[in-house]
Amino acid sequence: MKITQANFVQSNSEYQKCPVPDKPEYAFIGRSNVGKSSLINSIVQRKDLAKTSQTPGKTQLINHFLINQTWYLVDLPGYGYAKVSKTEREKFGTMIHDYLTNRENLLCTFVLVDIRHEPQKVDMEFMASIANSGIPFYIVFTKADKLSKTQVENHVEVYKTKMLETWEEMPQYFVTSSVKGSGREEILAAIDELNLG
Ligand code: GTP
Ligand code: MG
Repeated sequence: MKITQANFVQSNSEYQKCPVPDKPEYAFIGRSNVGKSSLINSIVQRKDLAKTSQTPGKTQLINHFLINQTWYLVDLPGYGYAKVSKTEREKFGTMIHDYLTNRENLLCTFVLVDIRHEPQKVDMEFMASIANSGIPFYIVFTKADKLSKTQVENHVEVYKTKMLETWEEMPQYFVTSSVKGSGREEILAAIDELNLG
């Protein structure tokens, strides 16, 4: 799929105020600083459409981007960041949960995990909880440019092994780098397929 247009629509703290749910929608979700906003920019090939930062906790609202006038890409706050206050964490947690469980046009979520890290409990729990709510998801490994090709393969294998302890199969996954733009074509192809539905 070729991106011809990418427009910021609005930021909201409540799902009820989000744009009318009349187009297919995809949300990027994961721990703070995992690279959600950067991946959105990489996918639409715009440097600064979604705001990014080296400091975790940058994205604090539900941000809608309209792509090619036909579907929405959504940037969400991160979950599970230990250094924000418990109150903040709970606020983001509720915002994300309410959005995910009530947004009727949400076709699929992309759960981002940093390829460098061992499988994290918070991510495993998050995937289990959205699956329980009947929300389909893909796994997206981020920051692949920080490892060698062999290390990437090894880390993916470790992740698969961990997932297979609780899941019947490894969900479909993508290996990405926002710095190199890798993985964007594959993600767009998956979205294209779901859009055609
Ligand atoms: P929050 O909004 O705080 O939840 O974070 P986020 O998940 O949106 O992360 P963001 O895109 O702001 O990126 C966090 C940091 O990681 C920034 O310093 C990015 O430049 C860096 N980063 C993101 N993706 C990549 C990548 O693929 N490769 C490298 N090397 N750095 C990346
Ligand atoms: Mg962000």
